[in-house]
Amino acid sequence: MPRLIIDDIPVEVPEGTNVLEAARSLGITIPHFCWHPALGKAGACRVCAVKMLDGPVKGLQMSCMLTAQNGMVVSTTDDEAVAMRRSVIEWLMINHPHDCPVCDEGGECQLQDYTIAGGHGIRRYDGLKRTHVNQDLGEQVAHEMNRCIQCYRCARFYQEYAGGTDFGVTGHAAGVYFGRLQNGRLESPFSGNLVDICPTGVFTDKTARFRARYWDYEMAPSVCPHCSLGCNTIPMARYRELLKVTARRNDAVNGWFICDRGRFSNSTVNATDRPRQAMVDGQPFSMDDALDGLVERLSEFLELHGPGSLAIVGSPRMSHEGNIMAARLAEMLGAGTVSYFGDVVHAERTIEAVSLLHAGNSASQEDVRHADLIAVMDCDLQDEAPMMALAVRQAWRDGAQVFSVGSECPINSAQQQLFDSTAVSSLSDVPLASAVRPLIICGTRHKGLEQIRAAAASSVRLAFILEGPNTWGCAQLAFEHEAQPFSQTVADKRVKGIISLEADLPAEMLDGIRVLGAADWRQTGPLARAEVVLPTCAWVEQDGTFINHEGRAQRFKQVMRPGLPIKGLNREHHPPRMHRHDAPGGDILPAWQIVAELIKRLGGEQINNPLDAIWAELQGLSAEGPGVLLNREK
Ligand code: FES
Repeated sequence: MPRLIIDDIPVEVPEGTNVLEAARSLGITIPHFCWHPALGKAGACRVCAVKMLDGPVKGLQMSCMLTAQNGMVVSTTDDEAVAMRRSVIEWLMINHPHDCPVCDEGGECQLQDYTIAGGHGIRRYDGLKRTHVNQDLGEQVAHEMNRCIQCYRCARFYQEYAGGTDFGVTGHAAGVYFGRLQNGRLESPFSGNLVDICPTGVFTDKTARFRARYWDYEMAPSVCPHCSLGCNTIPMARYRELLKVTARRNDAVNGWFICDRGRFSNSTVNATDRPRQAMVDGQPFSMDDALDGLVERLSEFLELHGPGSLAIVGSPRMSHEGNIMAARLAEMLGAGTVSYFGDVVHAERTIEAVSLLHAGNSASQEDVRHADLIAVMDCDLQDEAPMMALAVRQAWRDGAQVFSVGSECPINSAQQQLFDSTAVSSLSDVPLASAVRPLIICGTRHKGLEQIRAAAASSVRLAFILEGPNTWGCAQLAFEHEAQPFSQTVADKRVKGIISLEADLPAEMLDGIRVLGAADWRQTGPLARAEVVLPTCAWVEQDGTFINHEGRAQRFKQVMRPGLPIKGLNREHHPPRMHRHDAPGGDILPAWQIVAELIKRLGGEQINNPLDAIWAELQGLSAEGPGVLLNREK
């Protein structure tokens, strides 16, 4: 491990680390635009200059291009280095439009930060600025080429990291242009990362354009709820509206990026017609009264039919806290059953897959990125877990062989752009034994239990693709509480009434069954049929926990207070006619609190924290860390 001295501080870094990273490990920030931890170096921007005072290399050097070596003595504050960096900023600003006041990147712009930090304030060049025509890149990403500083991060991410072919760089020397050959929507399912990765305002989130400055946003560490991977995000909200979502670094999970589904799926949270009003028999009630109404109906129901006729239905898209509470309510009432999955097949596959995972074989996205042979088995990765497909691409770029196993593993043009793979009909055709770090990614949506068992029997690392953000957690709870899939409960014909908690049950399953109460923040079948409707908070409106496909528990924090977005308010609500403490449409609760209230009103104990008993270790879980793996030892 090379030892060097940076700004008089000795440091030892792993082989291959560059000087810029070595300085970062000491907390010393050297300005940089083109270097990015996930993309590596390009040497394009020349702003990372440092002075090498002694050792194998001397003089002014680009710190991102220089591998740390024994005996190097580096100064980041040397006058010559500082003057060089200041000059580079001045050159870059010659053609920059100086439009910070109207630029949507203002406040979160690296160029702005380094320009101010470097002290550049007076424009000496009085020639014409180079200008470009912008392109319409679709409804998600805005394009403003005049702000470009030619760092090449966008093209490197889009083409190299994400395999996109419809966007890149054209021109030469000072006349380069980053865009598509013609106007049109960016085709990559990871295109939104251009917004995060661009160090200036060339690419901004069109869906949130001009709605807020960085310092206006309410934000908190969160976890994406749109598949089972649990990618880390920072949702940003203002005036009770979820405006945008950005990627949050977690090296074990999503690295630096997220997919477009996770980034641009805000509309269901903001929908003005989303359930926000408690109802009893179609009439509006306060949450408090609606809860009393449900308790009353529940008591009558239990007296009439007995507790065995009642089912409590949780859901893999609900927080783990909510699902724990579903089991506690069922236990307290002696309910006939608690369900976490709708149909038997889904439940069987999921529970089987989760039961076969243990600390020694479960694979994270990071494991996938470093595998040298990957078998993708019976799943359409780009549809079921897009970031896993991106992880496979990184392994493939590093030389890993990829095999697509089974008929449900489509090798379509979208996948071909990400990685080459060899189609084989069975796992036995994959040379797993020839690899050092082999790995199997197996879907649970299409094929039966044999494939799942075959994957686990191979004794290589495994990543099962599950269906919801808390499916792993639900599988554990189902096992712990002997839960039945809801379709089986229906087939047994014992159940006459249910309480549904954020459950997506198809209408036909509910034929002849009373939906006594339904709690949800989405318009679902059970909610449409419910006698008592209890609106719940979306994940960005509460603290909670999801457990991802590998058994990694991750905490998400409340980003915004619930309530109708101010933008969606009609004349009845805005401007407010009288002072009120609560927001219109804000009389809602997280699902777990709704159940806690029911338990209390039914004569049970007051529950302030659902994470107890075997889940108690999650109580102190930080939302900012890598999460905690719950897989048991084999
Ligand atoms: Fe080193 Fe751009 S960060 S040249």
